[in-house]
Amino acid sequence: MQDQRARLDWRAGDVPVSRQYEDPYFSLDDGLAETRHVFLEGNDLPGRFCDGFHVAELGFGTGLNMLVVAEAWAAHGAPGTLHLTSFEAHPMDAADMARALAAFPALAPRAARLLAGWENGAARIDLGDGARLAVIAGDARQTLPRWQGRADAWFLDGFAPARNPELWEPALLASVAAHTRPGGTAATYTAAGHVRRALAEAGMDVTRTPGYGRKRHMTRARMPQ
Ligand SMILES: C[S@@+](CC[C@H](N)C(=O)[O-])C[C@H]1O[C@@H](n2cnc3c(N)ncnc32)[C@H](O)[C@@H]1O
Repeated sequence: MQDQRARLDWRAGDVPVSRQYEDPYFSLDDGLAETRHVFLEGNDLPGRFCDGFHVAELGFGTGLNMLVVAEAWAAHGAPGTLHLTSFEAHPMDAADMARALAAFPALAPRAARLLAGWENGAARIDLGDGARLAVIAGDARQTLPRWQGRADAWFLDGFAPARNPELWEPALLASVAAHTRPGGTAATYTAAGHVRRALAEAGMDVTRTPGYGRKRHMTRARMPQ
């Protein structure tokens, strides 16, 4: 499956849906609001931002989450650098990414930076205002254990666990925990029991909190200091 490009259908206008996983890349209702609720608020952002803060993500997809966090960083006005690292097994074609991101005009200037870098095949892209993105290609089960970094906040954004079980395997979630700084956090839209148990077994304090939209619960996790 490694190195396979993403294959898409489109639903509700311009929401990309994976043909491989039969699941949408973001909420059909309001992708932006979902990202803010689950991934920003779920990691207590922007309040924790500081120079050198590092956000990591499983599942880069369209880049929407990374653009939203870069936008929040710029609005927060923290000086210095925000590091963004995202892991992706099935890179999306730039034209598809452009179509998906066009639904979010508020992100257009930053999306243009992302797309310019993506079209050139860049692995590192300057998203502006000190936000620096690195996308690590390949199956995260192989690439994350080899990663040298540690994140302050994780966005766990695989497709639904039943459709994309590889991205929720206990060994991978243990690797997430091992790549989290003390006091660092992780958030995900799913409240699946096996995901919460795997994060807890990896040493994180796990809580279930209200989810976005029709999802009753989501999961937040924190690595003790
Ligand atoms: C729900 S989408 C992510 C949406 C994305 N965060 C966004 O802002 O558009 C899930 C992503 O996980 C990726 N993925 C699935 N299995 C993977 C694996 N084993 N390793 C790395 N990425 C994987 C998919 O290709 C897809 O891009």
